Amino acid sequence: MAVLLSTKPATMEDWRTALLAEDPGLDIRMFPDAGDPAAIEAAVVWTSHDMAELRRYPNLRLIVSMGAGVDHLLRPPGPPPGVPVARLKDARLTQGMTEWAVLNVLRFHRQDLEYRALQAERRWEELPAPETSSRRVGILGLGELGGAAAAALLALGFPVMGWSRAPKQRPGVECFHGPVGFDTMLGRSDVLLCLLPLTPETRGILNRRALGLLPRGAYLLNAARGGHVVQEELLAALESGQVAGAALDVFEPEPLPSDHPFWAHPRVVMTPHAASITIPSSAAPQVVENLRRARTGRPLINLVDLGAGY
Ligand code: NAP
Ligand code: GLV
Repeated sequence: MAVLLSTKPATMEDWRTALLAEDPGLDIRMFPDAGDPAAIEAAVVWTSHDMAELRRYPNLRLIVSMGAGVDHLLRPPGPPPGVPVARLKDARLTQGMTEWAVLNVLRFHRQDLEYRALQAERRWEELPAPETSSRRVGILGLGELGGAAAAALLALGFPVMGWSRAPKQRPGVECFHGPVGFDTMLGRSDVLLCLLPLTPETRGILNRRALGLLPRGAYLLNAARGGHVVQEELLAALESGQVAGAALDVFEPEPLPSDHPFWAHPRVVMTPHAASITIPSSAAPQVVENLRRARTGRPLINLVDLGAGY
């Protein structure tokens, strides 16, 4: 039985090496060279793969996302009926996102945009010192990534709040859930960090109404998915000063067209969906473990709840 890999060609080679390092006996096929469709038992795929194509493999018994997100796998037509989907939960992926979150919270907190602008004008000017203990950070999504970012920001001394679907308790984090919790948390978030999965419930969640709930002059950080933000409404909030700055890693569409106003906006800091990139050698052990479990009928790990969409 064989494993189908599907992503960019360069990354596919890294995945092949990483999976073979875990299990040299694996038969790995690189899409589109799948060979006999009946031989494919697992598909390890990233965003470019068409889910309709996976219906070609009659013996497919596991689909694995090459990242934490699975929105690309669940959009219509979705995975073939009855085939379980797993995501990655990976310490290095989490570490990368924590670094991106800390970098960008500190960027705005320490007035880095203002100091860069002063430097460009060769002006020696001291700005008022920021107070960490009064810069409240709200995190949308308290899962693998949001939870780790919360812990790192707490350790730096920021008051941290978090919003999840189910009620949660996390030491030191003021936890919210549900629509009332959303409004309450946003009303207190001087910095709002989005680390939600993209689902029908969360698409467009960062719209005019939500941005209007933030304290005036708040900052927005989005490293989740571009579809969480209504981009024109964020631009309007930046123009009005309601949002004082945004760090954006994800967009709709990607790549963001070169004429989009975000590129040249003085209050927008962009990265090209690079906040945290999967490292195949770090992720391969859990993929191989899941393959072994699928073959022996044991419970799979890191399974996605297809009903919830994450
Ligand atoms: P996760 O472990 O599944 O956590 C998701 C969190 O969001 C959970 O706390 C969940 O609540 C909450 N949530 C989901 N739907 C909600 C809703 N309708 N209302 C309120 N809360 C909701 O996911 P993760 O591993 O932290 O990853 C989050 C996302 O980050 C991924 O889906 C992906 O899109 C993105 N990502 C981006 C990059 C990048 O480089 N830009 C890298 C990796 C991941 P419960 O705790 O109640 O379930
Ligand atoms: C990256 O975007 C991921 O979902 O892992």
